[in-house]
Formats: sequence, structure tokens, C-alpha cells
Amino acid sequence: MSPQSRLSVVARIEDITKQPSAERAEPCVIVIFGAGGDLTRRKLVPALLRLFETGRLPEAFSIVGVAREPLNDDSFRASLKAGCAEFGDAPPPEDVWATFAGHFAYVAGDLDQPATYAAVKTRLAAIEGTLPPSCGRLFYLAIPPSLYAEVIAQLSASDLAPRVVDERLRPWVRVIIEKPFGSSLASARTLNAAVRKALAEHQVYRIDHYLGKETVQNLLVFRFANSIFEPVWNRQHVDHVQITAAESVGVEHRGRYYEEAGVVRDMFQNHLLQLLTLTAMEPPTRFDAGSVRDEKVKVLRAIRPIRADEMHDYGVRGQYGPGTIHGEALPGYREEPKVAPDSPVATYAALRVMVDNWRWQGVPFYLRSGKRLPRRATEIAIQFRQPPHVMFPLLPGQVIEPNVISVRVQPNEGIAVRFEVKVPGVDVRMVSVDMDFDYLEAFGAESPEAYETLLLDAMLGEATLFTRSDEVEAAWAVVDPVIEFWANKRPDHFPNYAAGSWGPAVADEFIARMGCKWRQP
Ligand code: BG6
Repeated sequence: MSPQSRLSVVARIEDITKQPSAERAEPCVIVIFGAGGDLTRRKLVPALLRLFETGRLPEAFSIVGVAREPLNDDSFRASLKAGCAEFGDAPPPEDVWATFAGHFAYVAGDLDQPATYAAVKTRLAAIEGTLPPSCGRLFYLAIPPSLYAEVIAQLSASDLAPRVVDERLRPWVRVIIEKPFGSSLASARTLNAAVRKALAEHQVYRIDHYLGKETVQNLLVFRFANSIFEPVWNRQHVDHVQITAAESVGVEHRGRYYEEAGVVRDMFQNHLLQLLTLTAMEPPTRFDAGSVRDEKVKVLRAIRPIRADEMHDYGVRGQYGPGTIHGEALPGYREEPKVAPDSPVATYAALRVMVDNWRWQGVPFYLRSGKRLPRRATEIAIQFRQPPHVMFPLLPGQVIEPNVISVRVQPNEGIAVRFEVKVPGVDVRMVSVDMDFDYLEAFGAESPEAYETLLLDAMLGEATLFTRSDEVEAAWAVVDPVIEFWANKRPDHFPNYAAGSWGPAVADEFIARMGCKWRQP
């Protein structure tokens, strides 16, 4: 472990956090389709509760859950309360919960039945009668992706979600669509066409929850609100970039979904490519949805297509077998519920991505993600080139460690800069140290959950952190050839890494062939 240097935080943090920043959402009704599911209980309702507690929800708001389960308003509220207690921070005081829960209503029905939409319409008419006339509507599709097109068509046919051509018109109508948005370029295009038939693009908010993470957003501030990093953020100075999303969890209860998805669809098409675009993009002229997303799309389009005959130089895959994490014996992927005993699905992948543009020509971006790795850690590490000439005496075999800027997305959100220093003493000896900025230590408070940020942004009509239709298609175009190549070539070596290890040996060999080494975040 390198000695740590302490970074003193120059900002007057107390002053900053006291400044009134809170923008409140406009009055609206949030309609959650799939309100009986996990996402609603685990993420959406705890996030809405936090927004309520911090005064970011509008004074006039209502939340309508729609799902198949035969619940009424009261039993729905009770089920949400249990969910919040299980997945939220700490259960809220009774009076806070009672006021919050008073805003909830429930409509039971099948999502393929027009009668359900008629019932929602009747309920909304009654609720909206008690709210200001300019009250907006936010529909959240927390449902299986196979239902997206159907629900959007029904929302349109029932006039619950009319097309609003001008985004300044009130009342506004917006639809949030969860990931995955399609399962290939072709299916994403079909879904985009179905969405376009019903809604204007500015009404559509495609979620990638990584974009709501505090450090991911801070990457833009770090790069573009400082003048010292941008000049070295390019092929002249950067040797390569490693973007890692390691998870210690397995597929949990999502075997059926994961058998269809696999790691490339689940993590690369969206989260990892989003991290890559924010790392590689050019500075936008303005911080608005159009300008930022234009620059991100340019990065995706500059990615070199991966050809089948070159695949061995661009990526490797793996699947976890049985193993242990923190002393707990864990089953292999093929032993997980709803997973085929001879499943060829990859739970780990590492890809070398080349961005063929002026800034990044020749700089590899190594992307890797896997389940059942030793710990949860997501980071972006920019590794710089070696100094051109070393004048200090080195011991035989000793090399100078490269400078690294690492952005820790989670956990322990922060940014570290690694550089060489002289070890005190009469000899000239060197060691690497980290200058480390830690969010929690600096600001004394946990960052908001991604869903809090994203839900509030959708209510405010702020689309920068959501994926545009061309962006989602460009990302599929990057991963489609990899998915296809691997689908056509059954792996004969699975499982090839033990749960609790840092992935398959082929991944270490792969990066070593490229002259690099994986970091251990
Ligand atoms: C989801 C994937 O999008 O992201 C999951 O479907 C994965 O498989 C999750 O576990 C990781 O999110 P986070 O926020 O825990 O890094």
C-alpha cells in the first residue's frame, strides 16, 4: 500500500452546502407501471421518500401505482412501507411516512388491457382535479422490457400520454423507460420507432442509472471546470484507460433475465460505455442536454468496429464457478436458480475499445465487468505514459510506476492522483503516493442515490443524464458484433473463474499481451 497524502479541501464546504440550491419539481402526478415489482420497492419509492424529506418534491404531487396484483390504496401503501423499511436508509418517522403515503393511490390491472388504461384515466381525472391545472404527468415504466412498446402504444391510444410537440408547453407529459432499451441494434431501432410514433423525443427519458451517480457527474466537473487536467487528457500523455465495474454479487434471483442478457448486454452496452463516453468526450460548449449528448454520441460513433476475425485481440469472456467470498461458500453461475446447467452465458467480459479520433488515436480503453469478483468496485483509471527519460538511479528490474488519475465511482466515491515521491533519507529512492479526495470525508454526507437525482431531473425536464435515441443505438452498434461473435462460438472452457477471484486467467493473459496489467481497484 502506498503512503497516503491528505488532500486539504480548499472549498468552504459549509458555505457551499448551506447555499439554497434546492430546485423543487413542478406539480405533477407520477404513474408507476410495474408498481408491484422490485425496482419500485427497492429504488423508486425510497428515492421519492428522500426527495420528499428534503423538500424537492412539489407541494402538489401524487403517485399512482399500476400493477396486476389485486391491491387497494391502503394495502399498496402498506407494501411500500415494508419495502422502504427493508431497502431505504432508516425507516422514516411515522408522521412523515403518513403524510408521504397519503399521496399514493393504486390501480390494479393487466397492462395489455385497454380497460386498465381507462381505469388509470378515471383515477387521474379525480386526482388532477385536486391539483393545479398545469400539473404534469410522469409515467415510469418499471416493467419487463417486452412490454415497453405495448404500454407506450396504450398510453398514446388512451390519450393518457398525448404527444406534446413543444417542450415548453404545459402541462408536460414525460415517460421514463428503464434499461435495457432493446437487446440489439435492430430491436432498439424497432423500439425507438414505436416510441417515436407515440411521443416526441423530448418526452422520453431513457434511464441508465450510472448517469445519476454523483462521481459520474463529477467527472464532467473534474474535466471541464479545471484547467490543469484537460491539457494532458489525450494521446500525447495517456497510455491507456481502464474502466472497471466489479460486482461481488452473483445473478441473485435474476437467472432468467441474465440467461437472455449476459454481461455485455447487462453492463457494457449501457453503464460501461456511458463511463467511456464521459471520459473520452470533447468539452461541450454548453452544459445542456443537447450539447452534452451530441458529444457523447460522437465518441460512440468514433469507436472502431470490432471485426469477428480480430476478436481475439479485442476481448475475452468468463463465467464464474463455485468459490468463496469473505469465507462464504458460493455456487457457480450454472448452479444458480433458473440458469441452464450447461449455460454458455458470460458473467465476465473484458474488451479493448479503440476510439478512432484525433484525441484518442492509439490509446486503448480497457473495459471490464464481472459478477462474483472479490468486491464491489467501479472506477475509471487514466494511466499516463512513462517519463521519456529517467535520470534517477533505479535498482535492477525497478521501473518507475506510471502516474494514474483514478475516479472511484463506488464505493468510497472520490478521486486519487498517483505520483512518485522521494523516500526521506540520504539515498534517492522513490515510491508512489496517492493524493486522495474522498467525498464522504470532504462533505461529511453520503451522495444522493442515483434514482433520486434521475427522478428529480425527469420532473424538472432536465434530460442531460438520460440516453437519447441515437445514443442508445450507437451503443448497441458497438457491442452487437461482440454479442454475435460470442453467441456463435460456444465457450468450451466455462466456468473459467472461481467466485471470489478477479476473473479468468485469459483476461490477465489478454491484457498482458497488450503490454498492460489490470489494476486492482
Ligand atoms: C444493473 C444490472 O443495471 O446494474 C445489474 O442489470 C447490476 O446486473 C447493476 O448488478 C449494478 O448497479 P450498481 O449501481 O450496483 O453498480
